[in-house]
Amino acid sequence: MIFWKKLGFRWVLQKAKSKDITCILLRNVHAIIVNSPELACEFLKKNDSIFASRRITMATEYSSRGFLSIRVAPWGDQWKKIYYSGNIIRKIIFGCRHFGKVLKDGGPGPGPEEIEHVDAAFTVLSLAFSFCVSDFMPSLRIFDIDGHERIMKKTMKPGDIVDVFISLKDNEGKPLLTIEEIKAQVGELILATVDNPSNTVEWTMAEILNQPDILRKAIEEIDHYDFPNLPYLKACGREALRLHPIAPFNLPHVSTTDTTVAGFFIPKGSQVLLSRVGLGRNPKVWEFPMRFNLDMHLNEINVGLTEPDLRFISFSIGRRGCKEAPLGMMMTYMLLARIIRSFTWSLPIGEGLVNLSEEERSLFMAKPLHALAKPMLAFLKH
Ligand code: HEM
Repeated sequence: MIFWKKLGFRWVLQKAKSKDITCILLRNVHAIIVNSPELACEFLKKNDSIFASRRITMATEYSSRGFLSIRVAPWGDQWKKIYYSGNIIRKIIFGCRHFGKVLKDGGPGPGPEEIEHVDAAFTVLSLAFSFCVSDFMPSLRIFDIDGHERIMKKTMKPGDIVDVFISLKDNEGKPLLTIEEIKAQVGELILATVDNPSNTVEWTMAEILNQPDILRKAIEEIDHYDFPNLPYLKACGREALRLHPIAPFNLPHVSTTDTTVAGFFIPKGSQVLLSRVGLGRNPKVWEFPMRFNLDMHLNEINVGLTEPDLRFISFSIGRRGCKEAPLGMMMTYMLLARIIRSFTWSLPIGEGLVNLSEEERSLFMAKPLHALAKPMLAFLKH
């Protein structure tokens, strides 16, 4: 039990530290941790088709209602089916601003059901691929040793996901998706939308409140240029994604056959974990990797959030790469620009600098960002 408790992601990161590739045997499963961009490309560019499946866990089984949605589905027909119908589902989700009850005063803030929903989304995300004893020893699942199953059951209670009716038809005019598939996919697209942009913006604000020069330059840029032409703002988001990823590893890529990658034999069923921390903070790739430093991005021709060479993981690449990178980028830039420019920011009296420590059990800020925001009315009128 103590061993399993310790077997958190920090233990794995430590074990893999300073190595390009590490293999850890978890019972009979090979977990391959990758810290080098070149090797990461070997897996997701050269051998993408072999590493296109996902790890099966108790939490992802719950969150996807039995692997009916796309992000965590193992490679196969269900993934393809949902992939092709994803565009239409997205239009339905983004067609409405709020769900559930609005605030009593009719104000624009999130209502109680939205708050509950977002909390539930973060619970699901934190448990999806966390180390859970029964994922490696299924016979122990009935004991729910780490309590994860109890939490997932409570979080995924039926009826709390938007009920969407959809008119997609197959070639014979029959409904293409079952209600369960629609619920699973809508829920998952909401998860995919919530986590990265909010984490990126919180860390960006924390970092730039500690470096007021950056904040000032970002404000000046927003004042002088149109939305698409904001390289400085984009570099802020990019740097936050590099230094402060939401999760220690990319979603696991599972091999569907025995293979050899860059001279290493990788057995079928291995789980390849591209380390978001190991890549983004790799001193062989980034000078002073722990420093929030925009210079590394500003001399790029087209600064943005994508990273096709996998020097850090933003949207990843290949067939299991993010399906909505343009939307993810737009959401991040818009959120960041609005937050930076709609308020005058300061730290509470007596707090000299934001504390940039991470939580022990996650990569979130140990103390959520607490800053004072004074609305800039002139800006809000536009
Ligand atoms: C800044 C925002 C976002 C970031 C950084 C991001 C990042 C990622 C990453 C790293 C993956 C895993 C890739 C891999 O396994 O190699 C992923 C998968 C995925 N993302 Fe995003 N994402 C973002 C926003 C979104 C949005 C807004 C949507 C849709 C509304 C979305 C939909 C998906 C889907 C469906 C997958 C699963 C693809 C598959 O397994 O085939 N993402 N994303």
